[in-house]
Amino acid sequence: MANIVAIDQGTTSTRSLLVGEDGAIAIVKAIRHGQRHPHPGWVEHDPEELLANIRICLEAAGPAAAIGLSNQGESCLAWDAETGKPLSPVIVWQDGRTADMVEGLRAAGKAAAVLERAGLPLDPYFSATKFRWMLDNLPEVAQARAAGRLRLGTTDAFFLQRLTGEFATDATTASRTSLMNLATGAWDEELCALFGVPLDSLPPIRQTVAAFGKTQTGPITASLVDQQASLYGHRCRRAGDLKITFGTGAFCLAVTSTIPKAPALTGGLLPTVAWHIGDRPTYALDGGVYDVGSSIEWAIKTGVASGVDDFHQFRRPPAIERGLVFVPAFSGLACPHWDRTAAPVIIGLTPASDFADLRQALLEGIALLTCDILAAMEAEVQTGDVIAIDGGLSRSPYFCQFLADSAGKAVALSDFDETTALGTAQLAALGIGVEIPAVSASNRKLYEPRDAPRERWRGRFRTAVERTSGWR
Ligand code: G3P
Repeated sequence: MANIVAIDQGTTSTRSLLVGEDGAIAIVKAIRHGQRHPHPGWVEHDPEELLANIRICLEAAGPAAAIGLSNQGESCLAWDAETGKPLSPVIVWQDGRTADMVEGLRAAGKAAAVLERAGLPLDPYFSATKFRWMLDNLPEVAQARAAGRLRLGTTDAFFLQRLTGEFATDATTASRTSLMNLATGAWDEELCALFGVPLDSLPPIRQTVAAFGKTQTGPITASLVDQQASLYGHRCRRAGDLKITFGTGAFCLAVTSTIPKAPALTGGLLPTVAWHIGDRPTYALDGGVYDVGSSIEWAIKTGVASGVDDFHQFRRPPAIERGLVFVPAFSGLACPHWDRTAAPVIIGLTPASDFADLRQALLEGIALLTCDILAAMEAEVQTGDVIAIDGGLSRSPYFCQFLADSAGKAVALSDFDETTALGTAQLAALGIGVEIPAVSASNRKLYEPRDAPRERWRGRFRTAVERTSGWR
């Protein structure tokens, strides 16, 4: 088998995975990049830094018969069509600068049309209002528009143009912009008009496994959102198959048998394209917790924790059992609450509380927000008894056991932790008609749920969540 390479360009780092000719699979390079917060609630990346990191990762992996590229979803930018030069920073999916614009659209009664056409609620999370913000606030962007040289896209489209010269995106990434009509899989004129985004600046939408042009080390044969890549890497193929990745945020995706319809939206879940390969797309439902790795980083930055190892074990009973609750709503709350006015809340400190209690409550808050998503999922699709997870927090035994106890389901760790990169490589391989064998699941670690007052925990947590609203 020829070398297959995956580039996982995520919110925190860029990584390359190499599947060698002998079938050996390994991460060959990982580079973290800067996170800029020019104002509270704003999150930006430098597009040139991300691109330089991708090039380093590609070079480290060497010549490839096929390359897959996964991206950080809704994060987007503007650039010049002729020079390829960025005209904006990457405005990251977590960024809430368009909250007022979103409220204006809601007040103008636009939410129903967006929900019906894009399948998505109005929220700054998605790219559409970020594009509008660039047009309204960055003179270079408005000038490029007037000169007919403006390109607007999610990060994949920028990387592809600069790496291969192709101007393209794929159906999974387009489905996260709020500008794609979920039913037709095409840019929607009405949505573009509603958000004030010029359709002719957007990249053509291709299938997930497609010819995306040639880089210096090989052809790109697959491109998609990282969460969908991880869903594929977890071998989720049938309706109800579900995974949760605990990275910068936590993203729970479940495959659905058909295009999710309006009733699915009542739970606040997002219908999305899982991948488009061949005749028709496969769909999924998605629910996210915005602040996971970013909450852990907050704890380290403030001295609440000295490192990630501080989150592995705790001596005391669950903090929630002791009345201490932490809702880590640093970027507001996503599914099923959809509330950008929510701020983090800590309730129940006592004079005896210490940093270990805060860390424990923080982990429990992430797990209990995840349980809200799982409950919404179960109302829409029949999911199994085991929750497959990956990502940084899957290395915390306390977190995994608490999640199993509070969800009342077993939590399974994947054998191979880099499921995003693995799924990306598997899809890239499909592009040249090669199949990467699945990584064995025989040794995966399983956390069985124990008897726990989970209803009481969930009720107490719900009360704290109610108090987060309107604080921002
Ligand atoms: O929706 C955002 C998500 O795709 C980002 O994932 O792994 O880059 O934090 P990650």
